[in-house]
Amino acid sequence: MKIAWGVTGAGHLLLETFSAFDKISKFADISVFFSKAGEEVANMYGLFGSIHKRFPSFYLESQEGSSFPSSGLFSMGKFDTLVISPTTSNTVAKIAHGISDTLITTIVSQALKGNVPVIIVPTDFRAGTAKTKLPFIVKNSYCLDCQNVCIALDVCKYDAIWLNGDKKAHIDYLKCVGCGDCLIQDCAAISFGDEINITILEKDVENVKKIAEILGITVLEHPLQILEILNKISLEKKKKLKNEDLSTEFKAKIESVKL
Ligand SMILES: Cc1cc2nc3c(=O)[nH]c(=O)nc-3n(C[C@H](O)[C@H](O)[C@H](O)COP(=O)(O)O)c2cc1C
Repeated sequence: MKIAWGVTGAGHLLLETFSAFDKISKFADISVFFSKAGEEVANMYGLFGSIHKRFPSFYLESQEGSSFPSSGLFSMGKFDTLVISPTTSNTVAKIAHGISDTLITTIVSQALKGNVPVIIVPTDFRAGTAKTKLPFIVKNSYCLDCQNVCIALDVCKYDAIWLNGDKKAHIDYLKCVGCGDCLIQDCAAISFGDEINITILEKDVENVKKIAEILGITVLEHPLQILEILNKISLEKKKKLKNEDLSTEFKAKIESVKL
């Protein structure tokens, strides 16, 4: 089974999706497609490198032009299913309104045109409050000025930590690769994975409902459900292939009777 996995710029459900794909890779070949924001956010959570290492077949929006040539793979029958997880409210809104101006929205559109089933796991599934985890942050109230030497800054190989005028540390999120080297015992200011509550907006949930009505798209609430649905698609495909084989066999039999 050949699966295309699209990653958008969402921190919510990113780790859970990575674990689900780790399991899926035991029975499927996986190629990964990253939106520009997806690449950045996966880096912030320290997952970009791990995903690249685990799934070397890779397509980056940041390295494609405006026409997204890799989306042609979906018309050429190269994939059995496309899974977008996690899917930002931005990407969901674009799909709901027929816009394809990013790598991810374009592969969704090409997959639908090529009759490839599309599975979408949105970050904003249900209105109300949801818990989500933050990437690496600096809690400036714990910044002790460290006699003008910031140990977190010193240890960062990527120059992602800098001090502003008041000697407080800050993270440059476009440089941070989430390696975690700055989580040192003597510094209480850096932390990772802090939970916060976010409000899921009604308008984003409305867009999720819209895409769930598009023929060819299945919307799931959690990445763990991807495994279940892929098993179902694989069984249906096997059944279809078996029926096709049987009908070819049947046709051949009729031909031989005619002769
Ligand atoms: C650390 C971080 C986490 C984010 N998490 C989410 C998220 O969970 N859901 C979401 O809709 N947007 C999230 N965003 C905002 C998106 O990255 C932003 O809207 C981006 O333009 C989406 O582009 P894309 O849909 O092409 O990937 C996050 C941004 C950052 C910096």
